[in-house]
Amino acid sequence: MMRYTGLKLAVLACLVGGLAAAQSMNNISTLRATDPPEDEMPPRMRPFVDTDLREARNYPEQPPLIPHDVEGYEVSRNYNKCLSCHARAATGRSQAPMVSVTHYIDRHGQVLASVSPRRYFCNQCHVPQRPDEPMVTNTFIDIDTLLTMPRE
Ligand code: HEC
Ligand code: HEC
Repeated sequence: MMRYTGLKLAVLACLVGGLAAAQSMNNISTLRATDPPEDEMPPRMRPFVDTDLREARNYPEQPPLIPHDVEGYEVSRNYNKCLSCHARAATGRSQAPMVSVTHYIDRHGQVLASVSPRRYFCNQCHVPQRPDEPMVTNTFIDIDTLLTMPRE
């Protein structure tokens, strides 16, 4: 009998512990904080930036942003719309900048004849832009700005 009581107490302790944990998880703040969702619809997204002008990179390794519209461009196992302009052989006709040589290098450092599988899905790294206000502000500052800031 005593053994069972002990067991029940242990189960109860676990339950109470679990509840406390669930309670404290509710205190984790979300991006929306405690505000209820707004009734009105968010503003419609504007079309892609299509200036054809290069955007400055924020750090040297940054994949360049796409300065043109990519609506409906297929990148699948069967077809890669991006490569129809950016592949080595296509650039004469398209006048698009060629994907750099890193896109032809596989993970063993071997330069291949065609774009390496790990660089095939362009949108993994390259993104177009829309001229919308960001939903979440970004506090990133680049290294040049950082170096000119007064030290604390
Ligand atoms: C019809 C041809 C064409 C297609 C298709 C195309 N591009 Fe482009 N892309 C260009 C041209 C031309 C430029 C040079 C800037 C300009 O004129 O827009 C460019 C510029 C870029 C740049 C900027 C390069 C830099 O150095 O700043 C990136 C990144 C890029 N494209 C990625 C893509 C990706 C990813 C896709 C597929 C989703 C794609 N492009 C599809 C023609 C094309
Ligand atoms: C794994 C990330 C990644 C993927 C996937 C990728 N890129 Fe890039 N891309 C980069 C980075 C990083 C750079 C800049 C440094 C470099 O050239 O490696 C770049 C540079 C470029 C440039 C500019 C080249 C130059 O000389 O100025 C073009 C154009 C480009 N990529 C197009 C593409 C296209 C088209 C695809 C799909 C076939 C693609 N990229 C896939 C990361 C990626």
